[in-house]
Amino acid sequence: MDNITNLIRKNILSLTPYSSARDEYKSNQGIFLDANENPFGNLNRYPDPYQWRLKQILSSQKKVGIENILIGNGSDEIIDLVQRVFCDPNEDKIIICPPTYGMYEVYANINNLEIISIPLTEDFQLNTEAILAQNAKILYLCSPNNPTGNSLENLEYIIENFNGIVFLDEAYIDFSEQPSLVSKIKKYPNLIVSQTFSKARGLAAVRVGIAYANEKIISVMNKVKPPYNVSQLNQESAVQSLANEDDFKSNVQLIKSERELLKQSLLALDFVTKIYPSEANFLLVEMENATAIYNSLIEQQIITRNRSSVVENTIRITIGTPRENQQLLYALNLVMS
Ligand SMILES: Cc1ncc(COP(=O)(O)O)c(C=O)c1O
Repeated sequence: MDNITNLIRKNILSLTPYSSARDEYKSNQGIFLDANENPFGNLNRYPDPYQWRLKQILSSQKKVGIENILIGNGSDEIIDLVQRVFCDPNEDKIIICPPTYGMYEVYANINNLEIISIPLTEDFQLNTEAILAQNAKILYLCSPNNPTGNSLENLEYIIENFNGIVFLDEAYIDFSEQPSLVSKIKKYPNLIVSQTFSKARGLAAVRVGIAYANEKIISVMNKVKPPYNVSQLNQESAVQSLANEDDFKSNVQLIKSERELLKQSLLALDFVTKIYPSEANFLLVEMENATAIYNSLIEQQIITRNRSSVVENTIRITIGTPRENQQLLYALNLVMS
């Protein structure tokens, strides 16, 4: 898959992007009378449209070029952006492998794209042959996968042999023992890896997502994204988080150890029939009468996610603080008695 340009929509290739005031004059020295901003206040200036400070840090941490990074308003914005760059409405197709994160499908419906659904196998792995037999612009993969929690196998073989863009969603990668494929973007020009500050970095309110990809893809995505898609406050919060690696690591470690403790305690409950292996910050738990148990937890003001419509008799439980996990177990014991 060498010629990425052929996959890009013609109108996007020829697009003249908006040139913002901050694009035209890049220094922050001077008297700024160019962007119709208010001269008073602390947040009166438009933010850096290309988020250089944040990208510099990510670039050195992840060992990829700044030109290989795009910052989005959460990774949800990136999922949509990729469709708008590559897929002509009413014409192009995307592939999803359910059960998986719902937004790939929602955006495809918004963007009027055909959705080819190739379900995961019984052990929640990819149906490689069926995927490679299809022709589509984008293949969405999520590893570790939401809501199943497992990492997907055979990823590199699929990326190498798929005739379109592979969008690999690594929202939960920091909770996993598997290596990220960010280091492979040089090797595979059709690979886009997305990550987020919303999960392991604990900044879901901040809305910062990242795409790592070949520079050609990133430069076209930059043309299409809104000029000021990431606020100054968002950028600063993300930079601050990256300066505090010790807290980040100990927080992730605590969530992982709580995940194992919670798993053992849940397995001891009579009505729990299975817990799927998880490399994320949640557990997919199969139980008798999952919907009734889900409802009875809600009555006790403990909110989990009923996933029974996608994996029979399951609820997905996010790992909370040690105290929250204890409260969940207490509530489940009440349900049992
Ligand atoms: C797999 C996956 N990707 C992306 C997202 C959205 O992330 P963000 O908050 O960066 O938009 C989620 C949120 O639950 C998710 O589970």
